[in-house]
Amino acid sequence: MAEEAVLGFLEKNEEISDSSQFASERGIDHQELTNVIKSLYGFRLVDAQDIKRERWVLTEEGRAYAAAGSPEVQVFLAIPPDGISLEELQKKMDPSIFKIGRSQAIKNQWVEMGKQLVMRKVQDVEDKVKDFLIRVEGGEVIDPKEVDALKRRKLIAPQTWKGYSVRKGPNYAPKRKKYATDLTRDNLQRFEEMPTNNFVESSFWNFDALFQPQQHPARDSHDTFFLQVPSTTKTLPEDYVERVKRVHESGGYGSRGYDYVWKREEANKNLLRTHTTAVSSRMLYLLAQEGFAPKRYFSIDRVFRNEAVDRTHLAEFHQIEGLVCDRGLTLGDLIGVFNDFFGRLGMSKLKFKPAYNPYTEPSMEIFGYHEGLNKWVEIGNSGMFRPEMLLPMGLPEDVRVIAWGLSLERPTMILYGIDNIRDLFGHKVDLSLIKKNPICRIGIE
Ligand code: PHE
Repeated sequence: MAEEAVLGFLEKNEEISDSSQFASERGIDHQELTNVIKSLYGFRLVDAQDIKRERWVLTEEGRAYAAAGSPEVQVFLAIPPDGISLEELQKKMDPSIFKIGRSQAIKNQWVEMGKQLVMRKVQDVEDKVKDFLIRVEGGEVIDPKEVDALKRRKLIAPQTWKGYSVRKGPNYAPKRKKYATDLTRDNLQRFEEMPTNNFVESSFWNFDALFQPQQHPARDSHDTFFLQVPSTTKTLPEDYVERVKRVHESGGYGSRGYDYVWKREEANKNLLRTHTTAVSSRMLYLLAQEGFAPKRYFSIDRVFRNEAVDRTHLAEFHQIEGLVCDRGLTLGDLIGVFNDFFGRLGMSKLKFKPAYNPYTEPSMEIFGYHEGLNKWVEIGNSGMFRPEMLLPMGLPEDVRVIAWGLSLERPTMILYGIDNIRDLFGHKVDLSLIKKNPICRIGIE
């Protein structure tokens, strides 16, 4: 197994200087090895440095000649020992092969274009072009003059190859003690899964409880799917509704509020939840009623947005929601959670950008670098829940809640190098991709 090979090798050696050489010496697929290195790097079992190298690969035309022979040899072989008329020869051959092959064969002085007949000038020819192409294909280094000739004929092209040099990392051990999947199970055991089995939610829990004002553009039917039947919710906790109304209208708990008339009818409207933060608000309210204790909650489930679909957006997608509630938490804890979480998925290039949510302050958008698209892609949104949200619920004043909502599809796209979300989810899904990939993959085991 690739992981054992890497860790075992580093037990006795300083460094794997070139992952591709290491892979080919051991008959390991380089892509598989790369995934293992990323995963080990995520846990800091190893340190890895990128190595980039230019190498030559065959173009489509080059591959065709490597298989069928160069056009000049094809032309030569099509000429019988007694010669052939130009017309006949042309009829026998593919027009583009004929055109290229004829000029090359004349240049090589292999054939002669007589008035009547095309004749061979030599008895035998060697297909050096084909041989060189096959050698390039096999990764051999060939004479630079030949490389140049093949390049000029556009039979080969440079390709940047990426690999790693690898050394022991700070957490190095000859064997990984816990597999990433075990750690996830462990993580799951330390988190409680939130009940997300209601796609239909009231505006109250989806928006009002989150201190989202009733005129907020997200509450427009252009952004949210509202239900026609049943169009409104039946029950809400009345005393809490009263406190939410007050904090919206006139503030309290150190806030000035929004200074508008809050309408119960607006809060009653049913919708398809636009985020799983609706479930988080219910959970925090329940926690406050039960009596506060530190908690970690998570969920992975579907959300809905009335949005134009494109390569990176769908009207239905999945969110990974998480929150940690305890006294004395800071934004540093939140950043630490992301570095840890995405690092374990082999995604170590993260960027955070200040953002705004009505329910969090401060708020941060999270971006991950997509190697395939060569750009930063937004993968989530996060922050610390505001007192205007937590205090009306009845949570103690010194309780801090760090929370995040991540797209499930975006990081999956980054990990698998998928650049169209519709290949992954929805009616245009690429079935072969779904079938080929493991049901669950956290790193590579
Ligand atoms: N609800 C936010 C979204 O849908 C994500 C989020 C969750 C932000 C929790 C902050 C805190 O984008």
